[in-house]
Amino acid sequence: MNLSPSKFPKHIAIIMDGNGRWAKKKGKPRISGHRQGGQTIREVLSVCQKLKIRYLTLYAFSVENWNRPQSEISALMDLFHHFLRKETKNLIKKEVRLRVIGRIDELPEKVRKEVTRSLEATAKFDKWNLTLAVNYGSRTEMVDAVKAYAEAIHRGKENPEECSWETLNSYLYTFDLPDPDFIIRTSGETRLSNFLMLQSAYAEMYFSKVYWPDFDQAALLEALENYKDRERRYGLTGEQINELSMTEHSVT
Ligand code: FPP
Repeated sequence: MNLSPSKFPKHIAIIMDGNGRWAKKKGKPRISGHRQGGQTIREVLSVCQKLKIRYLTLYAFSVENWNRPQSEISALMDLFHHFLRKETKNLIKKEVRLRVIGRIDELPEKVRKEVTRSLEATAKFDKWNLTLAVNYGSRTEMVDAVKAYAEAIHRGKENPEECSWETLNSYLYTFDLPDPDFIIRTSGETRLSNFLMLQSAYAEMYFSKVYWPDFDQAALLEALENYKDRERRYGLTGEQINELSMTEHSVT
């Protein structure tokens, strides 16, 4: 496969789905799918670094996931805790900055503590960026952003007359991240499920049949191969895009 780096997305966001079905297929408990899914995170991050894709965002736990059986929720929280404890030193070694987006305050204390520790330990890096969406939902993100914005108006720091997308964007959890270029969902489901709904306004979508625990380098390369043939138009015409890319080539 001959992929030119200029055709790579700068920011990939992935809905990691299919852990339960992967485990079921193997006659194992659901948590073993989640555990293997944690391993996939390490691999996918490594491939992104190899390909110089600087931003990777992963949907790990939605606000709706609290409705799962308590035993699965506890096992997932243990897994997040364990992952952060074990993985932070690898993130430091690989110079990856970790971000966690979502309502972190509502997570169990032991997870919160590890989140704080990992965020602080990796805050100095800026080249490589791993973002985990935990207790995340686009709608709650919007609610939190609007609350913060309304408070800022109340304090006289914002003027609603001057409100723009850039203003509201600066109140989202993702305020310091570029928009995702490429959203991948594994396991054959074709929904966004309340993930980065505003940020993905112009993202390309890709749905892979592969369950997340099996989503390896080959599966990611296949997705990227598909991405490279897309024409991203941002509301312009194909002709305008061609002209723009010709101008870009003539100046670089
Ligand atoms: C969706 O698959 C996956 C989740 C709700 C959890 C994702 C968690 C991991 C990948 C574990 C590791 C994560 C971190 C951050 C260490 P599903 O359970 O809904 O699968 P199904 O649709 O096949 O049941």
